Amino acid sequence: MGLDQPNDDLVGGPPPQTHLGCPFHPDKVRVHRGEQKAMLLTGASRGIGHATAKLFSEAGWRIISCARQPFDGERCPWESGREDHVQVDLSNHRMLPRLITEVKERLAGAPLHALVNNAGISPKTPDGDRLTSSTTSTEIWMRVFHLNLVAPILLAKGLFDELRAASGSIVNVTSIAGSRVHPFAGSAYATSKAALASLTREMAHDYAPHGIRVNAIAPGEIRTDMLSPDTEARLVPTIPLRRVGTPDEVAEVIYFLCSNAASYVTGAEVPINGGQHL
Ligand SMILES: NC(=O)c1ccc[n+]([C@@H]2O[C@H](COP(=O)([O-])OP(=O)(O)OC[C@H]3O[C@@H](n4cnc5c(N)ncnc54)[C@H](OP(=O)(O)O)[C@@H]3O)[C@@H](O)[C@H]2O)c1
Repeated sequence: MGLDQPNDDLVGGPPPQTHLGCPFHPDKVRVHRGEQKAMLLTGASRGIGHATAKLFSEAGWRIISCARQPFDGERCPWESGREDHVQVDLSNHRMLPRLITEVKERLAGAPLHALVNNAGISPKTPDGDRLTSSTTSTEIWMRVFHLNLVAPILLAKGLFDELRAASGSIVNVTSIAGSRVHPFAGSAYATSKAALASLTREMAHDYAPHGIRVNAIAPGEIRTDMLSPDTEARLVPTIPLRRVGTPDEVAEVIYFLCSNAASYVTGAEVPINGGQHL
């Protein structure tokens, strides 16, 4: 049975009445436990990752998450969240083999339908100013590149068999800062996101023969902890839609890219920025 076929025997009870019998409703309904799709989502505790976990979980997906902080059951109400959360610092590449082993153990031979490389950092000066190519320390260059670029490479490589078994989908979260100098995002952040966009193209090419699609989303200004306090005042007048975006609006695009609706989409980088790139 496909995700778009509502049924009474569903994980977590039947979908809302309005979904029943509607042939046009998207596949955001609960699924049979035996057919539950699984995703690994990095950085699910806040912002875009949190909204993504909520959306996928509402659609019946199993969310395996990871972040540096422990799972917060009050803020993250998705099913099995605590058991499926791995506490790890992704900027330390030596921790990645343990994470990959733990994800495989949790999957216990089941396929992985999506890997969403969302965790990222954008370090600034103590005053909140941007770090330029000449003011960024070596330690920050390394930490940013390890988290924003190296972790996605190692996770995709390490979970290749599980992704191939599901004809799965990888979504890398890049940024508008990867293609232009940004007033707040620093040089290490911007260049790591540009590299992640190139990596998306390379991976899409390499993984396509195995049925794995690889895409990126490039958010503009999205209301999360990462946004600088001045962003709304300074940048909203330059955004064609005249507002910042919400994490939910980003999650919807990630969901689309991981769904069958995007089955012929690979190697794309989708801008989500209210028209800022125009
Ligand atoms: N917000 C924007 O306007 C915007 C714009 C363009 C692109 N993006 C991109 O969107 C993604 C999510 O951004 P956001 O705004 O939602 O960020 P956020 O609110 O700061 O959340 C970042 C998430 O990543 C996790 N994380 C950070 N460092 C980590 C590490 N070393 N190891 C493991 N997990 C780590 C955090 O959890 P812990 O703290 O528990 O580790 C948190 O869950 C990032 O890749 C960012 O570059 C955001």
